[in-house]
Amino acid sequence: MEQTDKKILCIGLVCLDIINVVDKYPEEDTDSRCLSQRWQRGGNASNSCTILALLGAPCAFMGSVAPGPVADFILNDFKMCEIDISLLLEHAECSFPASVVISNETTGSRTILHMNRNLPDVTAEDFSKLDLSQYKWIHWEGRNAEEQVKMIEQVREYNSKQDKNNQITISVEIEKTREPLYQLFPHGDVVFVSKDVAVHFGFQSAVSALKGFYSRVRKGAVLICAWAEKGADAMGPDGVVVHSDAFPPEKVVDTLGAGDTFNASVIYTLSRGGSLQEALTFGCQIAGKKCGIHGYDGILQ
Ligand code: ADP
Ligand code: FRU
Repeated sequence: MEQTDKKILCIGLVCLDIINVVDKYPEEDTDSRCLSQRWQRGGNASNSCTILALLGAPCAFMGSVAPGPVADFILNDFKMCEIDISLLLEHAECSFPASVVISNETTGSRTILHMNRNLPDVTAEDFSKLDLSQYKWIHWEGRNAEEQVKMIEQVREYNSKQDKNNQITISVEIEKTREPLYQLFPHGDVVFVSKDVAVHFGFQSAVSALKGFYSRVRKGAVLICAWAEKGADAMGPDGVVVHSDAFPPEKVVDTLGAGDTFNASVIYTLSRGGSLQEALTFGCQIAGKKCGIHGYDGILQ
């Protein structure tokens, strides 16, 4: 298979987002009406697939689902977006994870209450059944990190037997402030670390986070840190910091999934041979567009 026909695979969460759009954040213990309510397919890896598909990149999602009416909605949406879901793992006795989101269109803020009762994550054993020759890039949303490291090792082993052109690029996202996720730093060729994690470690800017975390990544890796309305920064093996300002829309109405949009747009650019600067700029442009609309439809207009 030609490298250009190969897919980008994202591994991580798919959940239901029940989004309540308000123009004023509610007071506790009050009863108010929202402007609108909708169901949306969510989860970082799943959202990143949405963007990749909209950009026209062949992509696949790997993650767990539980059967029922929520799964019907989610599967149908994946199909409408033309995302390959042949790697979905169904767990009969489990509940579908869901988030209740309060999306404040006056500020663009998104407040998420997430619940995952018992749905297990993808394991290294599940992953070992894949035909890796179909993928040019695999992205892991940091979750069950110990298992994810084992999956990445399988890809490194596969890569060691391929010529350079056929190797799979590995990216990881460290978004949540959970100790076990930090073991992912040395495993990605491209590592996305969030502002949340950076702030948790005491860094006050993307540049100081990149400098502080860079010693944790593997030789030759690229470390990327997005910083909401301040845009994003990245650093490669030459130690040069690359920056893009944010591209704020006329009005920020919905920031849910802005980070997932940014990650997908960066991966899209790098996977097509774009430079780090091009990737950051494109990432911020598309993420900025996302912030100006509800959901993802029309993001490229
Ligand atoms: P998340 O909170 O979803 O992880 P981030 O805060 O990391 O998202 O932002 C990712 C990217 O989205 C930023 O680099 C920026 O380009 C864009 N972005 C986020 N918030 C804003 C905003 N308020 N205005 C403009 N762009 C934004
Ligand atoms: C956005 C998102 C939502 C989901 C939540 C899970 O980045 O993936 O779609 O509800 O985060 O933490």
